Amino acid sequence: MDRSIAALRRAASTTLAAAGVPSPAADARILLCFATRMEPSELELAALHGTQLPDADVELFEQLVRRRAERIPLQHLTGRAAFRYLELAVGPGVFIPRPETETVVQVGLDFLSQAELSTPRCTDLCSGSGAIAAALASELPAAQVWAVELSDAAISYTRQNCEPHGVQVLHTDATQLPAELEGGMDLVISNPPYIPPGAVPREVEVHLHDPQMALYGLGEDGLQIPRAITAQALRLLRPGGLFVMEHAEVQQRSAAEMLLQAGFTAVRGHEDLTQRARATSGRKPE
Ligand SMILES: C[S@@+](CC[C@H](N)C(=O)[O-])C[C@H]1O[C@@H](n2cnc3c(N)ncnc32)[C@H](O)[C@@H]1O
Repeated sequence: MDRSIAALRRAASTTLAAAGVPSPAADARILLCFATRMEPSELELAALHGTQLPDADVELFEQLVRRRAERIPLQHLTGRAAFRYLELAVGPGVFIPRPETETVVQVGLDFLSQAELSTPRCTDLCSGSGAIAAALASELPAAQVWAVELSDAAISYTRQNCEPHGVQVLHTDATQLPAELEGGMDLVISNPPYIPPGAVPREVEVHLHDPQMALYGLGEDGLQIPRAITAQALRLLRPGGLFVMEHAEVQQRSAAEMLLQAGFTAVRGHEDLTQRARATSGRKPE
């Protein structure tokens, strides 16, 4: 049997493509790195040298490819998800962070850098893996950051990813926070659940493996939780503070109306890196 990296990668890409995996070649490369414990550059060098892999690595790799072909998310197989400069721990029970949320974090960071605060105070509502809070705390070491997550299944990931960066993690309902937190935040960011009840996501990885509680925003339009989060954000912020919330592309107008109705000013939309309208921000009036 040919146990070379090139041959294994070719066979895996073919298997994954046949199973409908959206990025078969990239997934095959990541799983090869994981099975061999090699960095991507080491893997490419070994591939150039025609290195044959040991049986144990081949067996592990083929097992991972079979599971990925069953559409188990890549991040559940490796236990890791890349987010901005971080590698986060993820697994069943927690929402896998997405690239568009990296842009939402950037909107918050740009606001804080213009505000030139010595110790900015930030809260991430509906934290999941803690991606937003951990990114804020790691990129702004002087900031005080809170992460709020309700799910019993997700909270261990929130803690694991956030606590090393000094984030204070609250295991509670983000729509009903204690009054002592209110009024002092410079920035509130949220990527809440926002999918309407009938709009089941097409990707198998999402509808079978992301927790329902992370996806569906309740109410006919999926915006019941986002509405409650918007009201909570207004209470948390200091006058002039910024709220940024992620939403679906089709919810841009509803999100802007929601922020205006709640009392935010300077409401504006933000696009992700593929120019889709995926977030809306507003300032608490001075
Ligand atoms: C779309 S996921 C986002 C997770 C993370 N912020 C991210 O961007 O990757 C939404 C998260 O909100 C949590 N959640 C849902 N309702 C909540 C509530 N009322 N209070 C706090 N967290 C909630 C879910 O458990 C899930 O982790």
